[in-house]
Parts: sequence; C-alpha cells; structure tokens
Amino acid sequence: MTETGYFTEENSAEVVTSRNADAKDARLAEVMDSVVRHLHAAVKEIEPTQEEWFEAIRFLTEVGHMCNDWRQEFILLSDVTGVSMLVDAINNRKPTGASESTVLGPFHVPDAPELPMGSDICLDQKGDPMLVKGRILDASGAPINAVKIDVWQANDEGFYDVQQKGLQPDFNLRGVFRTGPDGSYHFKGVKPKFYPIPDDGPVGQMLTRLGRHPYRPAHLHYILEADGFETLITHIFDPDDPYIHSDAVFGVKKSLLAKFDLIDDPARIAAAGFDRPYYEVVHDFVLAPET
Ligand code: BEZ
Ligand code: FE
Repeated sequence: MTETGYFTEENSAEVVTSRNADAKDARLAEVMDSVVRHLHAAVKEIEPTQEEWFEAIRFLTEVGHMCNDWRQEFILLSDVTGVSMLVDAINNRKPTGASESTVLGPFHVPDAPELPMGSDICLDQKGDPMLVKGRILDASGAPINAVKIDVWQANDEGFYDVQQKGLQPDFNLRGVFRTGPDGSYHFKGVKPKFYPIPDDGPVGQMLTRLGRHPYRPAHLHYILEADGFETLITHIFDPDDPYIHSDAVFGVKKSLLAKFDLIDDPARIAAAGFDRPYYEVVHDFVLAPET
C-alpha cells in the first residue's frame, strides 16, 4: 500500500473504488463505484452521528423484515423516493406522440381472465358504474389490431381484490381484452377511488415523519402488448382526484389525465346498458414501434 492509499475522510470514496480495479464484472464495478461515490458524498454532507447511522441501518433492517412473497417494502421505498419513476423514465423514453408509461405497482396479477370486449370487470356491482372506451393507435393514427389489453383497478373503497381475499370475488376488477382491426376497446368497471399505498410498515412510518401522506390518486392500470410495438405499462388518472398533484409515488403525468364524465341522460344510460347514472371515460393510447 502506498502512503496515499490510507483511508482518510478526504479520499474515502477513491480508496474504496480503487479496490475494484480488478473486478471480473465490469458493470458491477461501474455500478458500485458510482454508488460508493454518491453514498460517501451524502455521508459527508449529512455528517451523521453514530446513533443516526445505526438508526438508518435499523430502518433498512426493518424494511427487509417487512418483505415476504406478497409484500415488497423495498419496492415501496423505491416508489416513495421517486426512484421507481426515474428508472421507468430512463427505460421508456418514447417518441413524440406515443403514450407515456408509469409504474407497474405491486397489484398486477399475471393470469387475469381474457374477457369478451365490453365485459363488466366489476363482479360485485359495488360503487358507481363506469364505462371506459377508446382506441389503440400507431404513431400515424392507424388502429392496431390484436392488442392485448390487461386492465386492473381498485374498487370504490380503494382496495384491490388481492388485498381483500374472501371479501371481493377473485379477479374482481381485472380483465384482459383484445382489440379487433378497428383498434377500439371498451369495458365496464367502477369509478375508482384514491387509496393509500401499504403504509403499515417502516416506509409508511417514514412518510408520516416526513409529513407526507401515503395516497395515490384514483387510477386505472393498463398493460398494452402488440406485435411490432413496445409494451406500454401505464395508468389513466382522474384529474379531479384530491391527490392528483401529490401522488405518493410520483406516477402522474399530464398526458395520463382522463376525464371521468358523469352521464345522467336516461337515453345514454339505457344505451350503455346501465340502470343508473354512470361515469364515462374516453382515452386513446398510441403505441411506439418496437426498436
Ligand atoms: C399501484 O398503483 O397499484 C401502486 C403503485 C406503487 C405502490 C403501491 C401501489
Ligand atoms: Fe394502483
């Protein structure tokens, strides 16, 4: 070791990263060098006491202990710190005009049933009825045939079926639809409501101490898949939701705001097959070509 290789407060990051010079995994070394540089810079800025550093380690330990097959507290930590949305943005740079992506979230179920176009995904008839419709288009405005549309949403109380097993029917408010040559889609559901991200763990406690709420504004989730196009993972949001400007996970984008119009005209109610006023949401998506 040279005289300059001793660890000091000033050269701490360089001493650590220089140890990775013989790394067998170049990408790992690149990632760890960057993490170490930024972590050391943060520690130098924060100047934590020994107690504060132990508190940080206790917090991360609790985040780990909170994780199981159904609960991923580290993903929630990534969500509320904006990292999930940043990784999403970096990996989904879309050409102008293409619909934008947002976070997948933890409540997608891969084997939801494929349903005839127009089906009602609300299996328990709770809440305000809603009709959602639109078209899936390419960048030139032409309809896309055979798009697999996977949709899921929380119920009128803000819970997904998987959070209320036994209370909601299995696969409530989920469905897979496939477009025909005209690229159009429509299905029935229930007007969604804002809901808190799971906040009974260390991430929820952190939000409380930061004076932040855990709520996500009302939204519908979509995954759109079609041959020759980039898969789009996204939501549409209710612009009138009280949390539209303060989503706990930063998932809202202007282009993802849809209008939830209350339809109370009896003729339209009857034509849509409802027995009471309903909300109508019209939203088109534009898929980017596969690169
Ligand atoms: C969701 O929208 O389902 C979601 C996204 C991030 C964290 C929790 C829930
Ligand atoms: Fe959601």
